[in-house]
Amino acid sequence: MTKQLTFVILSAGIDSLRELRGALAACDGTQLLAAGDDIEQLHAEVKRLRPSAAIVVLGAQSGPALRFVETLKAEFPNMGVICASPDASPDLILSSLRAGAREFLRLPLIKEEFKTVIERVSELCAVQEEAPKKQGRAVAVFSSKGGCGTSFIATNLAAVMGAPTVLVDLNLQAGDLTLFLGVEPKYSIADLVENRERVDDALLKSYLAPHSANLSLLAAPREADDADDIEPEHVFDVLRILRERYDYVVIDPQHTFDSITLAALDQVDEILFVLTLDIPAIRCAQRALAIFDRLGYPRHKVHFIVNRWSKQIDLDLRQVERYLGERVMGIITSDYRTAVNSINLGQPLVESEPTSKIAGELRQIAARIAGHKAAPAQINPADAEDKPRRLLGGLFRRHAKVSGASGAGQAMFDEKKEPAAI
Ligand SMILES: Nc1ncnc2c1ncn2[C@@H]1O[C@H](COP(=O)(O)OP(=O)(O)OP(=O)(O)O)[C@@H](O)[C@H]1O
Ligand SMILES: [Mg+2]
Repeated sequence: MTKQLTFVILSAGIDSLRELRGALAACDGTQLLAAGDDIEQLHAEVKRLRPSAAIVVLGAQSGPALRFVETLKAEFPNMGVICASPDASPDLILSSLRAGAREFLRLPLIKEEFKTVIERVSELCAVQEEAPKKQGRAVAVFSSKGGCGTSFIATNLAAVMGAPTVLVDLNLQAGDLTLFLGVEPKYSIADLVENRERVDDALLKSYLAPHSANLSLLAAPREADDADDIEPEHVFDVLRILRERYDYVVIDPQHTFDSITLAALDQVDEILFVLTLDIPAIRCAQRALAIFDRLGYPRHKVHFIVNRWSKQIDLDLRQVERYLGERVMGIITSDYRTAVNSINLGQPLVESEPTSKIAGELRQIAARIAGHKAAPAQINPADAEDKPRRLLGGLFRRHAKVSGASGAGQAMFDEKKEPAAI
């Protein structure tokens, strides 16, 4: 046996569990990943751990266990499901095969029989071993404050990645990315979720709205009600399906830490956190960082993008970086006319005005994502040199006063202090 075979065991009886566990432990090249008597819990573990095989012990009440075998067969057709029971009656063996089991083991185990079954499962897995699946890079363009430009940036980055990319509108209640891309899809993420177990390349394609050779959109449901049945685990499945087929998956989530958004943020490789250089947005960014820390996200997963930057803004970027304790990865200049025109045209700005300054800045961020690097943003010295540096300290102090110099407001604008905890 060359490749490690991984197992889970469902058993209501402690004796059969102990026996199977011991037999697997004594068998080279096998590893038990999870075991228990709770079908729901084990189902979740199977989804998470994707074992090579499951051993399902059929007790006196075999109904629920056989239904679990059916579920496994439907959801994981390549997994080797083995039923085991002290009752080796032809009826039960037949029922287990009909439910989808590949093998049947008599309990107590017969050493030679167990060995043969494991060998057959091993052969089955070797035959079915697929080429390693593609794992596209998933990026969420996120802000916990609305209106900072996340949809605009997500759309433009998705359009400029230069490789097959899918843009996912995870604003399930009120997504509007169809307008940003000028497409009118018939289907949405709700359809993909509904048919996720039987999706193949052709079916997936039919659920996406093509925008260009390299970019398609997985739209939010047209009717808000259709979003009601979408659960966080569905988001997990959807992103897995997309990553197996696209080089980049760019996600535009809601601006809250709801369970759907968190399911996406958990799974992505990078979170591009968009902020504008105003006090509420900076404060939101700081709170979000604290939440990410609590969620256990490594800091290198989060990159800050400053949108609508202008040299007229008094807040100094470096001061903001010091306050957040993080460098800014990208800066996008403020250009309302150009941005709004592209949105009204239903065409990403990187396509409609590719020579504009913003398009260049977006391409730079895309290149950093493609290179998996988070080089700090550079401000053009010509833009920075006439910055009223002396005014900035005063501005920070002025805001502290305006905010009543109390609590988080005080800590936030006092450069000497550590950032306020949320
Ligand atoms: N760099 C920019 N310069 C000027 N205006 C911009 C820029 N980026 C975005 N905008 C404008 O900001 C507005 C909000 O952008 P967008 O809809 O992308 O934000 P959002 O964060 O997705 O907001 P929502 O809360 O609606 O989800 C749009 O009108 C857009 O044109
Ligand atoms: Mg938006």
